[in-house]
Amino acid sequence: MEPKVNLKEDPAYVKLQEFYNLNVDKINIQQLFQQDPERFNKFSLRIATPNDGEILLDYSKNRVDEAALALLLQLARSRNVEKARDAMFTGQKINFTEDRAVLHIALRNRQNKPILVNGKDVSPDVNAVLAHMKEFSEQVISGNWKGYTGKSITDVINIGIGGSDLGPLMVTEALKPYAKQLKVHFVSNIDGTHLAEVLKRLNPETALFIIASKTFTTQETITNATSAKDWFLGVAKDPSAVSKHFVALSTNAEKVTAFGIDPKNMFGFWDWVGGRYSLWSAIGLSISLYIGYENFEKLLDGANFMDNHFTTAPLEKNAPVLLALLGVWYSNFYGAETHALLPYDQYLHRFIHSVIRFDCEEICSWTKAKAELDKSGMAPEAVAKILPHKVFKGNRPTNSIVVKKVTPFTLGALIAMYEHKIFTQGVIWDINSFDQWGVELGKQLAKAIEPELQDSSPVSSHDGSTNGLINFLKANFA
Ligand code: F6P
Repeated sequence: MEPKVNLKEDPAYVKLQEFYNLNVDKINIQQLFQQDPERFNKFSLRIATPNDGEILLDYSKNRVDEAALALLLQLARSRNVEKARDAMFTGQKINFTEDRAVLHIALRNRQNKPILVNGKDVSPDVNAVLAHMKEFSEQVISGNWKGYTGKSITDVINIGIGGSDLGPLMVTEALKPYAKQLKVHFVSNIDGTHLAEVLKRLNPETALFIIASKTFTTQETITNATSAKDWFLGVAKDPSAVSKHFVALSTNAEKVTAFGIDPKNMFGFWDWVGGRYSLWSAIGLSISLYIGYENFEKLLDGANFMDNHFTTAPLEKNAPVLLALLGVWYSNFYGAETHALLPYDQYLHRFIHSVIRFDCEEICSWTKAKAELDKSGMAPEAVAKILPHKVFKGNRPTNSIVVKKVTPFTLGALIAMYEHKIFTQGVIWDINSFDQWGVELGKQLAKAIEPELQDSSPVSSHDGSTNGLINFLKANFA
C-alpha cells in the first residue's frame, strides 16, 4: 500500500478535530433526539437478509450529528478505505509485514468469483477442502465412520489454541440449538487438567480428536495432542488405530505426517488465512461436525452476505464502516479507552469480540430524580446526599445491533461485520490488522525457555523477574 499522510495531519482529520473542539460540549444525545424526531430513522440501518429477517444497527444514540458524521465519512474517504478494501478482496498482499494476501473472504466466496493469489485462482482449492469437510462430516454424523472397535463416534475433541480454538468454540456455543448428536469439546490450555477433565468423560473407542494448528508447531497444541495420542494408544495399543481417531487441520503437511496422522485425514488451508480469521477454513471442522455441514455452509453464506454488503454499500450505509468510524470518533477525539461489547443473547456468551449491544445506560434526568426524592418526604440534606447516586450523567454512546434470531446465517454475518469493522479501523489508523510477528516472537521466546526447565541448574540469562520465576519453579516443582 502507498504510504499515507500521518493520520493527525490528514486534512479530513484536521477538520474533524476543529469540529470536535468547537462542539464537544454541545453535543448531547438527548437533545439530538428532541431536536429531530426522525433521528432514529436517519441514524439506523436495516439490512435485509434473504431468509433470516433484518439486521438492525441503531447508531442514533451517539454523540454525532449530521455534520460530525459527514466529516467522519470524509475521513474514511481520505484514508482510502474503499481502495484498501478492494485490495483485500482482490488478493493483494496487504499483510505487508508478512508479504501475504489476506483472504479469509475467499473461504466464503459463495459465488466462486475468481480470486487470484500469485496468478492462481484459489477457489478450486477452497472448494476441494469444503467438499472433504462435507463428506467427512456426513460420514461421522451418520455413524458410518467407525472407530477401531467398529463403534460410531460420539465425541469430538478440538485441540488447538488462539484462532484454532476460540472461533469454533464461540460458534458452537452460539449455535447450540442447531446441534446434531455429536458432543464437542475444546482443549486449549497447556495445563494438563484441561485435557484430563475432558478425557475423563470419554471412551477412546468413540472419540475423534481434531488437532487444529495452522503451523502444527504450537507448543500448547502439540503437547496436548501428544498427550491425547498417548492416552488413546494406552487403551487401543495399535498405532494403526490412530487414523480412525485423529485428524489434522493445518497448513503443514510434513509436520502432520510426522505426528502420525494419515495425510488423507488432513484438512488443509493456506498462509493467506490469518489464525484469527480461520474459523471459515478447515479450522471450522468441529463446527461442521457439531451443527452439520449444511449449517456450516449457512454460516459461510452469512459471512459472504456481509462481505457483499461491505464491498457494495455506500460508506454512509455501510455497517462495518459506520461502526469503525464511531470507534475512531471516541478513541481519537474523546480519548475513550474502553469499549464494552455486551451480548444480550446468552448463546453469544463467547462472542466477546463482537455483538450485540454496547454499553447501555438509561438516561435519567437530575431534575426528575430530585423531584421523586423530594416527593418521598426525605429531608433536604438527605436528598442532597443521595441525589448523585440516583442519577446517571447520561450522554453515553450506545449502538444496538438486533437480529431476529441467532442463526448460522446471521451469526456468520455478525462475525464478518466485526472483522470488517476492525479492518476499516486499521486502515484509518494505518495499522496492519493482520500482522502476527509479535505473537510469533512470544512463541519463540517461550520455546527458548522450555529447555531451561529440564534440569535443576539456576538460570541467570533473563531479567531478574524471569530468572526468579524459573528458578523458583525449578526449586519447587522439579
Ligand atoms: O494467537 C496467535 C496465533 O498465531 C493465532 O493466530 C493462531 O490461531 C494461534 O496462535 C495458534 O497457532 P496455530 O494454529 O499455528 O497452532
